[in-house]
Amino acid sequence: MKYFQTMISKRILLLVAGILIVCGLLPAQTKKSDYDNDMLPAQFHADRRQALRDKMEPNSVAVIFTNPERNRSNDVDFKYSPAPDFYYLCGYTEPNAVLIIFKEKQTIDSISTSEILYVQPRNATEESWTGRRLGTEGVKKQLGIVNVYGNVNFDALSLNFCTFDKIYQSESYNDVRDDQNDKGDLYSLIKQCKEKTDFCKSKRNSFSLRTLLAALREIKTPEEMMLLKKAIDITCDSHKELMRNLDTSMTEYQAQALVEFGFSFNGSEYPGYPSIVGGGENSCILHYVTNRKKLHNPELLVVDAGAEYHGYTADVTRTLPVNGKFTKDQKALYDVVLKAQLAGIKQCRKDNNFRDPHNAAVEVVKKGLISLGIITEPNDFAKYFFHGTSHYLGLDVHDAGTYGKLKAGSVITVEPGIYIPEGSSCDKKWWNMGIRIEDDVLITEGEPDVLSGKLAKTTEEVEKMMAEEGILKKK
Ligand code: GLY
Ligand code: MN
Ligand code: MN
Repeated sequence: MKYFQTMISKRILLLVAGILIVCGLLPAQTKKSDYDNDMLPAQFHADRRQALRDKMEPNSVAVIFTNPERNRSNDVDFKYSPAPDFYYLCGYTEPNAVLIIFKEKQTIDSISTSEILYVQPRNATEESWTGRRLGTEGVKKQLGIVNVYGNVNFDALSLNFCTFDKIYQSESYNDVRDDQNDKGDLYSLIKQCKEKTDFCKSKRNSFSLRTLLAALREIKTPEEMMLLKKAIDITCDSHKELMRNLDTSMTEYQAQALVEFGFSFNGSEYPGYPSIVGGGENSCILHYVTNRKKLHNPELLVVDAGAEYHGYTADVTRTLPVNGKFTKDQKALYDVVLKAQLAGIKQCRKDNNFRDPHNAAVEVVKKGLISLGIITEPNDFAKYFFHGTSHYLGLDVHDAGTYGKLKAGSVITVEPGIYIPEGSSCDKKWWNMGIRIEDDVLITEGEPDVLSGKLAKTTEEVEKMMAEEGILKKK
């Protein structure tokens, strides 16, 4: 009897749970996919579209194209990357697409809508060569956009763009290839859009769209922060593994391989930018990406490398003594950069000016270079520290932002550097030393939050980490 009662109450419980799930009051146990389960949710993109719509002027329309496919050589393309603004607004990661957002709902072919997305259609043959496509139905299901059509239908869109007071339009590319056999490729979409708006050219404006989106992208939402933090964590762990394995027998490309191994192994799709791995004389080249030199004792190695995760990229630099120990002079110069970086980070506070971290770092570098006898005139600091200290970080490594006052929720880098190439007018002992230290910092309501702060940074911390046993050294 007791057993029977228990069975009945279990059935009642299941029935109630079922009703609640159907009514959407309890989350159903969703089956995990074999692919990524932590992509930005459709609601995130819907909210971003609404945020843009809220900022658009009355009676306006925005036309946002995604990136073209870029050719490397002959019939080999670079791995495709969607335009960050486009991805931010809809999450579609395939090429040949355009998104249209209306300030006010429009009735088109008796359908009332505030947005339309044109995407590339399914194509079994193409898909067997270059991968699965979502197609219109997949986009509706996965990205939650209602009005989705094949890109070949854009030309037939029955909408007079000239009735709008303003046409926000993404910037035009000058490297779009024309696939003569595809009337829905990006080349055609851009051409058709131009034809639709040529009668009212003066209403087209790409600068304003960039400005509106920069203001939005500058402030990261919690969903974006999850991905950016993941990219930064992967990056720190990968730099750590490089520190543990680096030795004087290696080349720059082997150091690059070690750091990028960590990126891929931990789920990053791509380095967010070509990794900068410069030893000795190459440590003095800001964006050195050749990475082919043999390393030597006792050179410094600048490693500026960041993992990208679901579109969001980290940007972290550490400068390492190839042999695991800083020389006295290397340490002296390193400590100037470190002090400048810490002074910069201290200025990463809400309502400070965007330039405040840079100005603070410059003051430290001026004094440090004078005290080491490298310069005598304070303004000569610029010979050796000739770049800005900060930029926004997010979907782009140099991300969109307003560059005004710092705002809570934005992430910026702090990355002073000193670079003394051979032939510089100072004691030869400093020649070929390049040092940059870069962290990613979240602006909060209070103290700066150094998101890459777990990675060794002082000379003592770096030396300690380099003395640890890395995967290559394990027996
Ligand atoms: N990785 C490029 C930069 O630091 O700006
Ligand atoms: Mn940077
Ligand atoms: Mn960097």
